[in-house]
Amino acid sequence: MRTPIIAGNWKMNKDMQSAKELARGLVSKNARFRDREIILFPPYPFLPAVAGLCQDSRLEVGAQDISEHEAGAFTGEVSAEMVVSTGATWTIAGHSERRNYHLETDEIVNNKVKRALSAGLNVILCVGENLRERERGAAFDVVQRQTERGLAGLDQDAMGHVVLAYEPLWAIGTGKTATPRQAQEIHEFLRWVIQRMFDNATAEDLRILYGGSVKPGNINGLMAQKDIDGALVGGASLDVESFSAIINFEV
Ligand code: 13P
Repeated sequence: MRTPIIAGNWKMNKDMQSAKELARGLVSKNARFRDREIILFPPYPFLPAVAGLCQDSRLEVGAQDISEHEAGAFTGEVSAEMVVSTGATWTIAGHSERRNYHLETDEIVNNKVKRALSAGLNVILCVGENLRERERGAAFDVVQRQTERGLAGLDQDAMGHVVLAYEPLWAIGTGKTATPRQAQEIHEFLRWVIQRMFDNATAEDLRILYGGSVKPGNINGLMAQKDIDGALVGGASLDVESFSAIINFEV
């Protein structure tokens, strides 16, 4: 059985005070879960505070991105080791907003995945096609390429610290969710890609999350799919009530 993950990507939202309020609210509302993992991804400045608030709880904390470099003259960058030193245990790599607005290639994303793992972080690798790619029937090719290149050079052991997130760009922040069937189709395919790259057990154990306009009203339908093991939530993770409702999805 794969333990489901509900992760909240706060993106560039909140300030120190409202970040702490959100973390506190989520900790007190979601203390009882044993059968699902909950991960918060606040902006960098709030990582130590949020990690501190979540320390004795069921909630885990991660960074939204890390540098592909280890240390040195990289103004504005944040290293995997720095993230570890805040008490955070996860990072996202390859989010479409990084790929598109910051021109991150599959090679850069692969470097970030490797950096994260060697610093001891767990990684959520994001893949997903844009609307044009979906319309010309290239969705499968795009997610396969991003997955193979993003995970290049990893072995089976390393895959124990990796989670995949399928986030179709046309569904991010648009209110347009992929249907459970559309998502399941890609998730099943991604599991096959992983089986081909690694082996059966690695593919079976891998958690594959869906992201893109996940809300309290559509989470149950998504989670009912065989290969959907959780959600990476943007907008709806910014509020205690809506994120808690998603965490409370019904099995
Ligand atoms: P929304 O849930 O706001 O569509 O964002 C999804 C996302 O990009 C999570 O990483």
